[in-house]
Amino acid sequence: DYTHQVDSVLNLMTLEEKVGQMIQYSNNKLLTGPSLDSRNHTEEIKRGEVGSIFNILTVERARQYQDLAMQSRLRIPLIFGLDVVHGMRTIFPIPMAEAASFNLELIKKTASVAAAETSAHGIHWTFAPMVDISRDARWGRSMEGAGEDPWYGSQVAKARVEGFQGTNYNDRNTVLACAKHFAAYGAAVAGKDYAEADISEHTLQQVYLPPFRAAVEAGVGTFMNAFNEINGIPATAHKPLLRDVLKGEWGFTGFVVSDWGSVSEIAKHRMAKDNKDAGRLAAIAGCDMDMHSMTYARHLVDLVKEGAVDITLIDDAVKRILTVKFELGLFDDPYRYNYREKEIGDKKVNAVHRKVAREAGAGSIVLLKNQNVLPIASTVRNIALIGPLNKANKDMLGNWSAIGKAEEVISVFDGLKAAFSKAKVTYIEGYDLETNELKPLPDLSGYDVLIVSVGERAIDSGEAKSKVDISVNANQQLMVKQIKEKAGKPVVTLVMGGRPLIFSDMEPYTDAILVTWWLGTEAGNSIADVLTGSYNPSGKLPMTFPRHVGQCPIYYNHKSTGRAWTPNNPWVSGYMDESVKPAYAFGYGLSYTTFEIAAPVISKKEYRSGESVVVTTFVKNTGKYTGKETVQLYLQDVASSVTRPVLELCGIRQIELLPGETRKIEFTLSEQELGFFNADRQFVTEPGSFKLFVGNSSDNLKVTEFELIEK
Ligand code: IFM
Repeated sequence: DYTHQVDSVLNLMTLEEKVGQMIQYSNNKLLTGPSLDSRNHTEEIKRGEVGSIFNILTVERARQYQDLAMQSRLRIPLIFGLDVVHGMRTIFPIPMAEAASFNLELIKKTASVAAAETSAHGIHWTFAPMVDISRDARWGRSMEGAGEDPWYGSQVAKARVEGFQGTNYNDRNTVLACAKHFAAYGAAVAGKDYAEADISEHTLQQVYLPPFRAAVEAGVGTFMNAFNEINGIPATAHKPLLRDVLKGEWGFTGFVVSDWGSVSEIAKHRMAKDNKDAGRLAAIAGCDMDMHSMTYARHLVDLVKEGAVDITLIDDAVKRILTVKFELGLFDDPYRYNYREKEIGDKKVNAVHRKVAREAGAGSIVLLKNQNVLPIASTVRNIALIGPLNKANKDMLGNWSAIGKAEEVISVFDGLKAAFSKAKVTYIEGYDLETNELKPLPDLSGYDVLIVSVGERAIDSGEAKSKVDISVNANQQLMVKQIKEKAGKPVVTLVMGGRPLIFSDMEPYTDAILVTWWLGTEAGNSIADVLTGSYNPSGKLPMTFPRHVGQCPIYYNHKSTGRAWTPNNPWVSGYMDESVKPAYAFGYGLSYTTFEIAAPVISKKEYRSGESVVVTTFVKNTGKYTGKETVQLYLQDVASSVTRPVLELCGIRQIELLPGETRKIEFTLSEQELGFFNADRQFVTEPGSFKLFVGNSSDNLKVTEFELIEK
């Protein structure tokens, strides 16, 4: 508890120094000179009027900045932040891909490796994890999160926070995490980035807030505001969410940083009449640090002097920021993490970290279709590898790849050549990566198998990368058809991208489909591991893959309707020109083996409130290969005072089974896990009937039922 130390520093501070702690500037990447100058806010730092700098990439630069802060009157250290989203130098699969692994230990591990590499570069703080729920594949930032499910999103949020932060801020291999973007950023209307989230209070509570709450419970040190407005209030000015929910109800003791410029944008949202008013609203709402909008720098001192912002609010923000700096150990050692010998710099990526990336990459791949072609036999002699994405190293890194280096990436071509060392692997371009124009295909008759890569480029997913068309380019799909028709041999398609994509035109012409996302530094090895079968694919979709973009937003945990879709009835909820079903459901993903999951069994049919519900099932590997299955538990509250989704994921178990092996699996559900927010915003569990479902996909489930009765 640093209350005493924080108070004694606060007592020494002038108003300008206090406001200074609430200001963050970006280390302008364009100013790459060897030393800092006034454009780097050097004078403000020396005056003690800056709290944080971000976008620093080297120990040297971090040291230069901290030297300036140490010249200030109170020598309050700066805190350095960076977007380390899925790796610092060793790049791991994009977060959406990693979420597909459904392997929480692995997710935690990659975050902890990323943290170790980040801290080796003098950086204390990552702007991750993004815990926004995304139900709309048009939204390009889907790639940065864990997909559509609030329960699973909460588990992933916890794993990532624990991975980045470890158990103790004082551990030198960890960094401070930041749960972003608070809140409902993924609910942008029509999937358009930065657009308003117009959602009910109920949906906010049930769907969008749970992962943020989980991050708080996991001890996350900071939060970042979202750019969007929520039901009429920009997130950065959202006092009810920031002060009442986050800092009040949830007891969050860390600090909140705005998103880049989101303080000044309150005026652009037209909630504030000008920039100064925007600063007033943000400070009152509880945004503790202004990321680069200069609004606090220009106006906050005056706003306090004029009585428009109460000094107690400033003190609260500064205490939060100072507390985190104390917790990080920056007051003991302002040069924390500034050890050149630890920096990766010109050294090669650590081999152990590469191994983690390879494993994470293989675990993230989702097998959607396999007509007896995968794994590829080790006896094949001639492999065609078609499509420029097979050599697109930079794309493999995915968006937000920190200081990852394209030249260190194992491309698909490299990975395959190494894995099939006895075969001839021939690269054929197939199409132009910039224009998508088709290139003439050579004679394809001599190949045993043809592996084709299609999809988005890495820069097509991420911030401000919303799309109205999420189909794989028509020419790329046409190419798959031409290859199948020309070669008449097994075709395996790798679908790369950062979001659910649509590729129904090519589906009949490919024998196997693997979603390989953007897998990072070891992408090619991970993909080769799955193609050879040395890793049996185990990924599951964390986000529904639609058939048509017009279905977006589409998610498995939708509500019931009075007119549920039924065949041959025109007066039902559906579309005249498309099925209501997705192309691939949430939780779907095949293996090279097959599993049989028995119907769930519960020990009794009636539970009293307060008792835990124990659900068991048996899983059998009915195929020829050892394989991993993710058994999923869903619940349905049959009738409730506020309607609830048709299905809600509430448990996962991942097990590996040998061929023929059967294992019993047990889930325990507490009463709490059966609950929801009622119309009065109270979290309740209501007596009545519940259904429990187990299976290996949200569209392949077996059911049982029980009653919850009052004590
Ligand atoms: O952390 C990011 C955020 O997710 C989007 N805007 C910029 C921030 C800092 O780079």
